Order: sequence, then structure tokens, then C-alpha cells
Amino acid sequence: MRSCYLAFCVALLVCFLTFPVVAQHTHDHDGLHHWEIPSKDPDRIILTFNGDPATTRAVTWRTDTSISGAVAQIAEATENSKFTENAITVNATTEEFDLGLYKDNNSLIVHYHSVVFEGLKPDMLYAYRVGDGDEHWSEWIHFRTAKAEYAPTQFVYFGDAQNDILNHWSRVIRMAYQTAPDASFVVHAGDLVNYAHRDYEWAQWFKAGGFIHSQWTAIPVVGNHEFMRTSQLRPRTLSIQWRPQFTLPVEQGLDPKLHETVYSVNYQDIQVIVLNSADQLEEQTEYLENQLKNSTAKWKIITCHHSVFSPAKGRNFQFARDHWKPLLDKYGVDLVLNGHDHTYARGHIPVRNTDGETSGDIGTMYVTSVSGPKQYRIDDEQMKAYATDGYQRDKAGEQTQFFQVISVEDNTLTYVAYTVLGEEYDRAVITKNFETGKKTLLQDAE
Ligand SMILES: [Fe+2]
Repeated sequence: MRSCYLAFCVALLVCFLTFPVVAQHTHDHDGLHHWEIPSKDPDRIILTFNGDPATTRAVTWRTDTSISGAVAQIAEATENSKFTENAITVNATTEEFDLGLYKDNNSLIVHYHSVVFEGLKPDMLYAYRVGDGDEHWSEWIHFRTAKAEYAPTQFVYFGDAQNDILNHWSRVIRMAYQTAPDASFVVHAGDLVNYAHRDYEWAQWFKAGGFIHSQWTAIPVVGNHEFMRTSQLRPRTLSIQWRPQFTLPVEQGLDPKLHETVYSVNYQDIQVIVLNSADQLEEQTEYLENQLKNSTAKWKIITCHHSVFSPAKGRNFQFARDHWKPLLDKYGVDLVLNGHDHTYARGHIPVRNTDGETSGDIGTMYVTSVSGPKQYRIDDEQMKAYATDGYQRDKAGEQTQFFQVISVEDNTLTYVAYTVLGEEYDRAVITKNFETGKKTLLQDAE
């Protein structure tokens, strides 16, 4: 009897001690969907580039605060499960912050963990997993490192996802994955979400892509919607989730405010230069010129959120046409990938002879696209006016959700836009003479 009484007292004490914790826990999760709530199990797993794509790869994931000694494991994939015996364990860097820094998020402290896998073999299929090193692991996930030299490859590009992401962007990224499952990387050209710091939207973005984010390597680009105030009294800042959740290259020569929003990736002689068209534009011009001047890549691609040739009414990115386009012309940039205008437009700069006649060669090809549900109207007159900048529109579209697949092989770059139905909408093939830099364009123009 005495022992029963003692057990009852102990149980009561345990209840009393744990109750405030449980109550606090519940409060933090009030109103959240289960897929927004961090746990001991890794979620929001995403691959990014950080260093040479042939020998390195970064992975970032999220847990609750109970996981601090996080790790990742990696091994060369094998046809059976024995590859795990050769797995190498790498300790993660952990970053903690309170989602409540933004007034409309629940106050909820989360841990983001990241690892940069280094010293990998080029053109090798690896399996990796992330976790706590004990009971809480992700599944094993495949990715392939880049080849050390120029070789055929394929990548995906999305315009803005931004609105009602889980409802209406899921079928776009999933159809893109069905169309180009082996894509080497994926460019998200800004406005991934609508409210920069709102964790509910990032949760949707990660849920929409699911395991695809952990298997494809992302090149995320900031848009204007990745910046906002965290409260009325605070200045406009980059999404509080951006740097913790994407482990991106840091360009040391740039203002720290631009870090992880302006960077460059060289994938098998395809150079992708990412610019931040939402902030500190002047400071990026010198960076852009240095990158282009020193580039030996066979293909040079620029991506930034705002359209250099905006198709939508009332939009005008004059700065880019005044300060960046001359550099793109001078250094023979092949392709520019934009978003922001919630329409579709592809055009190019015809090369003209000294008498003003077109030579048949082309300069840069420019694309604006949209992957999410928000749609604007094309302003035809505005697009015609870009003729003064030498621009010629080749194809335009409205009221359609798109994704694009871009393939390079030998001396051709094949660009294909697909609707969310998986149907081909637009195709353009650039053929390039790598000796002279001269390019011709074969396309279905409007
Ligand atoms: Fe935008």
C-alpha cells in the first residue's frame, strides 16, 4: 500500500513537471499543419551547389531543437544495400533561430543543419542520408556528381511559384520531374514564395517538391518577394529562412548583404551566374563583369528575378538594360532566365551588320516564365518598344503555368518550354561555334 502511494506521488510529480512543457509545446504548434511542425526527423532536405559540382555538394535540412549533433552520411551507391558499410559520416553545422522573428509566424525555435560533402569522385552516383546519427534518419537519397569535363546534360528552370504554392505549384514541379528526372540542377528564378518570412509558405514549397528537392540540386534565386519587413518597425530584409535553409556559395568580395543571393556555378563548362535583382544593383555590375571576363565556359547563362525585357504592363527593368545588357552583349552571354512578370516571353538579340541589316547570327536569348498560378497580361506595345534595344520577341504566352528543360550537347543548346500538362509549348535550338562565338537560332517563332 505504502509503495502504491509512493508510485502515485511520483506519477503526480512527473505530470506536474512535464505539464508546462507540454502546454508550451502545444502553444508553439497552434494552428500549424503537421507538415509545418519540426520534429527529431529531418525535413526540408535540399541539395545545393557549394564548390565544384564534380567533387562537392551541399545538403541542408531542418529539425526541432532537440537535435544538435546532426550528421550526414554518404557512400558510392551500389546495386544492393551494402553501400552503407562504406558510408562516411560528416558532422553538420547547426544554426538556430526563432520563426517568431516574423510577426505572423508562431514563435517556434528551429534547427537548420548543413553539410558540404567534399572530395567526391566526378560522375559518380552517391547515396546520402541525414539525421541525428542514431534513430532519426532520412531515407537514403541519390545524386550524381558532375563530370569533370564538358559533356551532354540537362537542367530545369522555373519562373515564379509564389502563390498558393502547395495547391498549384505541386503539379508543375512534379510534371517537370517526370519530364526530366535526371536534371543536373534546377533554377528557381525568384519569388519562390509570396511573403518572404512566412514559414507556412516555405512549408508549402518544400511539401510541393517533396523528395525532388533532396534529389535535384537547386539554384535558388531571390526575387522581390524574398524581401520584406519582419514587423512594421524593422527594415526590409532577406527572408529569415533563406540563408539557414539554402547552403549557397559565398562570394567574399561582395557586401555581406549580398552573400548567398549573388553567386556563380560552373557545371561541366556551363556557367550560371545568379544575380539579385531586388537589392544593391550597382554593386553587382562589377561582379558580373569580372565573372564574364574571366569565364572560359562554353555556355554562359545569367539568371535574375526581374525581366530584362519585361512582357507585363507597367514593368520596366531599365537598370539591367542600361548596365547589365552591354556586358551580356560584350561577353557573348547565351541565355538569360527571368521571372517576375507572370507571363511567358522568349526573344533574342539579332546580330546586325554595320549597315543595320541582320546577319543571321544571334546574341543573347532572353526568357521570362512563370510556374505558379498568378497570371498577368502581355503588353504588346511595350515589347515592340524594346526594338530600340535590339530585342526581337519570338514567342509569348499568357494564362499558362510552365516549366522549362534546357539541354546542352556538343555545340547546341536546346531550350524547350512545357506547359504544366507536360505538352511542348516552345522550342529553340542555339548552335554555337565555340571558336568564334557565333551563334545561330532554329526555332518555332510566333
Ligand atoms: Fe516578382
